[in-house]
Amino acid sequence: MTERWTPSSWRSKPVQQVPFYPDQEALAAVEKQLASFPPLVFAGEARQLKRQLARVAEGKAFLLQGGDCAESFAEHSADNIRDFLRLFLQMAVVLTYAGGLPVVKVGRVAGQFAKPRSSATETVEGVSHPSYRGDIVNGIDFTEEARTPDPHRQLKAFRQSAATLNLLRAFTNGGYANLDNAHRWMLSFVQDSPLSNRYQEIADRITEALDFMRACGIDPELNPEMRATQLYTSHEALLLGYEEAMTRVDSTSGDWYATSGHMLWIGDRTRQLDHAHVEFFRGIKNPIGLKCGPSLSPDELLRLIDALNPENEPGRLTLIARFGSDKVLDGLPPLVRAVKAEGRSVVWSCDPMHGNTVTANGYKTRPFERIVGEIDSFFNVHHAEGTHAGGIHLEMTGRNVTECTGGGRPLTADQLSDRYHTHCDPRLNAEQALDVTFLVAERLKQERLLRARQSPAEAAE
Ligand code: PEP
Ligand code: CO
Repeated sequence: MTERWTPSSWRSKPVQQVPFYPDQEALAAVEKQLASFPPLVFAGEARQLKRQLARVAEGKAFLLQGGDCAESFAEHSADNIRDFLRLFLQMAVVLTYAGGLPVVKVGRVAGQFAKPRSSATETVEGVSHPSYRGDIVNGIDFTEEARTPDPHRQLKAFRQSAATLNLLRAFTNGGYANLDNAHRWMLSFVQDSPLSNRYQEIADRITEALDFMRACGIDPELNPEMRATQLYTSHEALLLGYEEAMTRVDSTSGDWYATSGHMLWIGDRTRQLDHAHVEFFRGIKNPIGLKCGPSLSPDELLRLIDALNPENEPGRLTLIARFGSDKVLDGLPPLVRAVKAEGRSVVWSCDPMHGNTVTANGYKTRPFERIVGEIDSFFNVHHAEGTHAGGIHLEMTGRNVTECTGGGRPLTADQLSDRYHTHCDPRLNAEQALDVTFLVAERLKQERLLRARQSPAEAAE
């Protein structure tokens, strides 16, 4: 691990989950072209996110990360991006209000295209084709032509990411994210749900607080924190050729940054210590995530932390626990204890999606009860261990899809076929995502009250 790192040093290591590109020349040409394109994000922004995540690691902020399982070329529209953003802003407002903590907003967006698969091929009625690996690699249609990895898709994914990011930047800086607009973020199809009232109450209180500030002579318009917000981007950096091409030296620091997104993470299937993904990640200076599933031992985790964050830099590493509601109570505490005992600074976040996938009526789905069950256990474990339950990581969409069962207005297995649109894993729809948010908000509120009782001065900080 102490060998010299370069953006391409991963190429000499064993690698998991790589697509087989029949046209290697075309692949090399695409990677060369990508390397000449402008960066999508700047190193300074990634550093800013790292500083905010350092606050999460200290227990003084909360991380909200979420978005599609896989973005797709077909669903790229302004409405989708706007609806995701307004839902995400609502969720952040609810959590900020309940927790009394800043909420760091990180979308699984503007680059979340490549997917790991459990099998290299898919077989239907005796016919086999390569598995679908996300629109950046191949097409979802079950034909040999669509499923053959096509490098030109990487150019399309880059351009789509740029366009998505451009619109998100416009929305977040151009007034849409102004807290004065909190009432308008509610999506129409959620408006007749019981959640709507709960949300509107919070929005009312925010409006009152803003009016009060104005009355005191403080103009929220003059405070950038009120007028605009920062939404960061993230994705699983699975397709290392693409990531290498987008990795650049930052002229201010001389360090290497992946410029395909602010935060990148390593998936549960590609976190082998001596393999290519860990090698690539150890050299980039972005804040990074590591998915932690049931097969990860405390020892292995500590060795991964040594490799990925040798200087114990706060905010550098987010551990995203994804055990499953039935495994988290056994699996998470040993990891939390080992990290704490060794004095490693990390953000602990909960992905309650990937360990809770089941099949119902022939659809891949996730029962809402299991999702909230895992979140609850995650908070309980951190409470018991004296560590900070730092964030949640959700697969969700602003659209009114029917992909996960249950929720406040329960969706049944028979309804899954109504609007099942995901290109990969089942996502929470807007109403279910808000349901989850209010449950998390309850936990954050309890912790805020506890902090206030233990140390009134610090809680008011
Ligand atoms: C994902 O986040 O979409 C994913 C594949 O997760 P994991 O690596 O945890 O399985
Ligand atoms: Co997924």
